Amino acid sequence: MGGRPRPLYERGFALDKLIIKGGKKLSGDVTVSGSKNAALPIFFATILAPGTHEIHNVPFLRDINTTIKVLEQLGAEVEGNGNVVRINTGPIANFEATYDLVKTMRASVLALGPLLARFGKARVSLPGGCAIGARPINLHLKGLAALGADIKLEHGYVEAKAKRLKGGRVNFDIATVGGTEQLMMAAATAKGETILENAAREPEIIDLGDMLCDMGAKIEGAGTDTIRIIGVDELAPVTHRVIPDRIEAGTFIAAAAITGGDIRIHNMRLDHLDALVFKLQDAGVEIINRDNVVRVKGPRRPGAINIKTRPYPGFPTDMQAQYMALMCVADGASVISENIFENRFMHVSELMRFGADITVEGNTATVKGVKKLSGAPVMATDLRASASLILAALAADNTTEISRIYHLDRGYESIEKKLAALGADIVRVKE
Ligand code: EPU
Repeated sequence: MGGRPRPLYERGFALDKLIIKGGKKLSGDVTVSGSKNAALPIFFATILAPGTHEIHNVPFLRDINTTIKVLEQLGAEVEGNGNVVRINTGPIANFEATYDLVKTMRASVLALGPLLARFGKARVSLPGGCAIGARPINLHLKGLAALGADIKLEHGYVEAKAKRLKGGRVNFDIATVGGTEQLMMAAATAKGETILENAAREPEIIDLGDMLCDMGAKIEGAGTDTIRIIGVDELAPVTHRVIPDRIEAGTFIAAAAITGGDIRIHNMRLDHLDALVFKLQDAGVEIINRDNVVRVKGPRRPGAINIKTRPYPGFPTDMQAQYMALMCVADGASVISENIFENRFMHVSELMRFGADITVEGNTATVKGVKKLSGAPVMATDLRASASLILAALAADNTTEISRIYHLDRGYESIEKKLAALGADIVRVKE
């Protein structure tokens, strides 16, 4: 192998900005990378079985680097070659994920369940606030307690102990993606049967379930709202290929739509994006899947179609900002309701700098489409908000400068290179 993946943050990209000259119709081919939100729990699941796991189709992202740092902090040995990462979890001898890492990536709390399952103890920092909402982890902790973990919150850390977790019944108040993943990992080696009710159904949960089953776990129903897990005594290391990133794919579909372009998208699962695809087709976007290549043709001007974000298989909150960018140029007014996170409209005021006409009341934004957006200096505020600003810039007159794009590096692999290859006029420069 060629050594550990080169961390993006060590390349000093933190203060880069993007300069985009809008008005180019995108055309050509683009390939989607592996899914961030599938890869993160999969990396943490490797903790469950000592030995060397090999994970394929790993995207090069800042959040992956952070995950590698957490695993290394625990004592794992990690090396990478291209999009393949090998993780040896045999040497893990430390059970603590510290605040400096967890605060930069909340998904680090997913170390808790696997550490507890394998070693009977874990100390993981509470993540603290987040730009898009409070995002507590109470349901993770309640679920682990139902499996017999003794949990204390002290000095900003969760301290959990259990001799051996035991199967239990968990009914989630909210269908939580991370909570479902946490409990699937914890229950995989618990004694007896665990039933997770009102479980999240995202494709990333199915991917994690597939990996855990390959490791020897007995899990039924991943991808439905009831998951049954029969605990096994031990799990073995595996080779696993991460599913394609549905949100990256959706972002490229939106990019073709907003520029009136005509592109072909490779390595994507269109069936993971049904809710988005139906809405975009209603808005006049042509989306055709032939031989696993998805062709997207944007309309001259999209129609205005309302959406409400919902847990999967509903419209994904992670596509709300990008969809809003598209609706900014729609022919008519659309109503967008955000039902997952309480503060996920931070892109609104930045989109208005392009001349978008948006009003927000509570969790609902009304977007009156304008004929043309105009380029402006704007600031990225979180990952998906950054993507929405890129989309607006691709459709806008003149030049847009997007600063603070380090958010983008958390979740989009080389997005400026992929868009440039599709004909966009986009460059990354040091701020
Ligand atoms: N919630 C609680 N208590 C909990 C857990 C969740 O109240 O213990 C609430 C959250 O505050 C939120 C709702 O439940 O209001 C749903 O949160 P969920 O747990 O499903 O989200 P997550 O696991 O923290 C993942 C993705 C997010 C994505 C959401 C929803 C990963 C690493 N992150 O977060 O991805 O938005 O599911 O689909 O898988 C992104 O990629 O940009 C991103 C934010």
